[in-house]
Amino acid sequence: MKYRFNYLFLYVCMMVCIGCAPKARHYVIGVSQCSADIWREKQNAELRMGTFFHDGVELRFAAAYDSDERQVEQIDSLMKSGIDLLIVAPNQVATISPAIDRAYDQGIPVIVFERKTNSQKFTAFMSADNYEMGRQMGDYIGNRLKGRGQVLEVMGLKGSSPAIERHRGFRDALSRFENVKVVETLTGDWTEQTAYNIVRKWKESHAEEHVDLVFGMNDRSAIGARCAMMELGDSSVLYCGIDGLPGENGGISLVRDSILEASYIYPTYGDSLLQLAIDILDGKPYKKEAKMMSAMVTHDNARVLLMQTDETLRQVARLEQLHEKVDEYIQQLHTQRVINWLTWGVVVLMLMVAVLLYLYRTGKMTLRRERVVNNLWNLNAEDIKTGKKAEVQTADGEQKTVEGVVTSVFISRFKDVVEARLDDCNLSVEDLASDMNLSRVQLYRKVKAVTGASPVELLRTARLNRGYKLLLTTDRSVSEISYMVGFTAPSYFTKCFKEEYGVLPGDVRS
Ligand code: FRU
Repeated sequence: MKYRFNYLFLYVCMMVCIGCAPKARHYVIGVSQCSADIWREKQNAELRMGTFFHDGVELRFAAAYDSDERQVEQIDSLMKSGIDLLIVAPNQVATISPAIDRAYDQGIPVIVFERKTNSQKFTAFMSADNYEMGRQMGDYIGNRLKGRGQVLEVMGLKGSSPAIERHRGFRDALSRFENVKVVETLTGDWTEQTAYNIVRKWKESHAEEHVDLVFGMNDRSAIGARCAMMELGDSSVLYCGIDGLPGENGGISLVRDSILEASYIYPTYGDSLLQLAIDILDGKPYKKEAKMMSAMVTHDNARVLLMQTDETLRQVARLEQLHEKVDEYIQQLHTQRVINWLTWGVVVLMLMVAVLLYLYRTGKMTLRRERVVNNLWNLNAEDIKTGKKAEVQTADGEQKTVEGVVTSVFISRFKDVVEARLDDCNLSVEDLASDMNLSRVQLYRKVKAVTGASPVELLRTARLNRGYKLLLTTDRSVSEISYMVGFTAPSYFTKCFKEEYGVLPGDVRS
């Protein structure tokens, strides 16, 4: 019982410690992207990579594929899923604002990223300067055409703030070039396919119109326009875009390979975005409006930029590999820890079971012996004559009523024989058997069958019983009494006595 309480106490302490341990932070950040394309993929990858450096940050991504309705639904369901902060690139200025406002009004911090809304309900805004990008591109194109030429403009999604701002900047810059004419401004939606469709349609209906340069508001639009123009046999046109992504099919390579005339790096900065989100959640100071750096890509710098970006991409890939390895290691460590805990749990459980089993068995055995021997031994001659029943337990633990004259007489005789020679320390089972006119084996079987105990056990109990009585009724010393009841050594008598009665012989008297 004592052991059981010890383990119980240990277990309770462990549980209390686990409960009191400081809870690790856990931030859930929702990322609502207006579209899904290589630019967004790069940004999402950077956001994910950012989590490598911050424990307990979970990202939930949603991509609206350029649909206002879908983005509104996705923001609402991100909110319902229990996010702590929302990062959102709104598809268009006006259409997404109500959903963003709902999140903000619910107390969820909102970072509006790269595309603007017409609401002031946001925690922070992060973007490159789209007006400036359009302006510099206009300036570059005016100069590239040496102040004279015809330009076709392919806009991004009309209601999105980068399209509006890039257009304004572009037009402001071109207004300084009197002889550079924008022959048409076509409304696209940032996708290559739409740019291809609208440019092809326009060209088919304006075959006579000469175009020197197409400005696609992103590189994908510029490429879509180029495909359409080339298919219709116009191969002399120059193309400019915006985004300037690194990598094999990115804008920088396209400029290096003269597929594009120029591009403009529209930075993704996913890592900075995540840092901003965490600063807000941690309650640290942050800038409400953060501007990202960007730069022109031309034939002059495309090679150098590509070398640098390739190197960065290589490092990123390495970092990712490293992270995978660390992840794997952490997983193994975790599994190992679980196994250790389970092993300990099993060991402790087995120990507890063993202790309980031991306590139960020893308790039961003592009880059994005491019951058998005492019932039997206290059956006096009178009881036997009147045929009183004795409750005994047989060797296999069954409760049995011993009755009948034969059994009673046998036991009575055995008791007399034992008690008559109790003081003889050399008394053996053979002696007892011969006094009973039985062989040693016969005596053993009969006594065992009737009482569940062996003759030796009964002899020892009888000796101890007598010793107990003598201790109470005489002034003899413990040593004298131990010899009187047939023990060869007082120390052995004391040991057996303690086992039988749980007290020392001396204690009985006091
Ligand atoms: C990516 C993208 C870019 C473009 C930007 C404008 O989804 O279409 O190509 O520069 O969005 O918001």
